[in-house]
Amino acid sequence: MPPTDTTSPADPLPERAADGTPGKPPTRVPCGIKFEKVVKRFGDNVVLDHLNFEVAAGERVTLIGPSGSGKTTILRLLMTLEHPDGGIIRVGDDPLWHMERGGKLVKANERHLHEMRKRIGMVFQQFNLFPNMNVLRNLTEGPVHVLGLGKDEAVERARGLLDMIGLADKEDAHPTQLSGGQQQRVAIARALAMEPTVLLLDEVTSALDPELVVGVQDLLRDIAANTDVTMLCVTHEMGFAKDISNRVLMFDQGRIVEEGTPEAIFEDPEEDRTREFLSAILAT
Ligand SMILES: Nc1ncnc2c1ncn2[C@@H]1O[C@H](COP(=O)(O)OP(=O)(O)OP(=O)(O)O)[C@@H](O)[C@H]1O
Ligand SMILES: [Mg+2]
Repeated sequence: MPPTDTTSPADPLPERAADGTPGKPPTRVPCGIKFEKVVKRFGDNVVLDHLNFEVAAGERVTLIGPSGSGKTTILRLLMTLEHPDGGIIRVGDDPLWHMERGGKLVKANERHLHEMRKRIGMVFQQFNLFPNMNVLRNLTEGPVHVLGLGKDEAVERARGLLDMIGLADKEDAHPTQLSGGQQQRVAIARALAMEPTVLLLDEVTSALDPELVVGVQDLLRDIAANTDVTMLCVTHEMGFAKDISNRVLMFDQGRIVEEGTPEAIFEDPEEDRTREFLSAILAT
């Protein structure tokens, strides 16, 4: 588990890489996630109420729970698409929304957020590829403009990923020329092109026609089996969750009701709330 000492040396994110090259992507270090008393409100609606949980570096955790329980909000906070109203979120050793200055945590500036975002990739339910760019550019845009990778290197990385997802022949296609399953595989490849250490997956197969689900799930099984990326995945597909995750967290009303191995949660849950939820899922 990464240390969480808030008094560790300030400025853990050097402006330059260790060799002094400006703009060079930072060395990839496996990162876990930690929520410490995180509060998130939308108006009077307290969605996360002093939430604590941890995902170890390289661990694969699935979040389950009823609609509105706060699953997407957790991922959006990690993507810095929403800001917390209280508490600390850490990605690796570093706070996401704060910086350490003189032994104290202060609100993060844009540069800190920009550096931290490089650690995290997300794939959404709706495959939100850049519609005006072909597949290859969808994969090279972030690495070139955010990571500062050279164009040739970004193209080489993108082609390797397209090969991996079985879409090497589609690099010139635009998103509208692809099936939903193909678009979602490209969205996964686009997230991986940034070489994130944390991959967030929000119901990535739920908008797909049933026959397209298998290809996307198989790709994610491969990623889980062959990489050390930390995965936080929202899915109600229990077989898939069993295959890819080490641990399942059951959420309700922004709190963890129960957690355990996929086998324990899906086959022998202890809490009534988990049993009720799983029965409802099985009935759909
Ligand atoms: N931008 C927003 N503005 C206001 N309320 C929001 C916003 N985003 C989420 N909420 C509210 O926060 C709560 C949690 O929403 P969230 O999307 O995290 O749930 P979820 O667990 O992902 O649900 P689902 O399974 O339906 O995707 C809900 O009550 C929702 O209405
Ligand atoms: Mg959601």
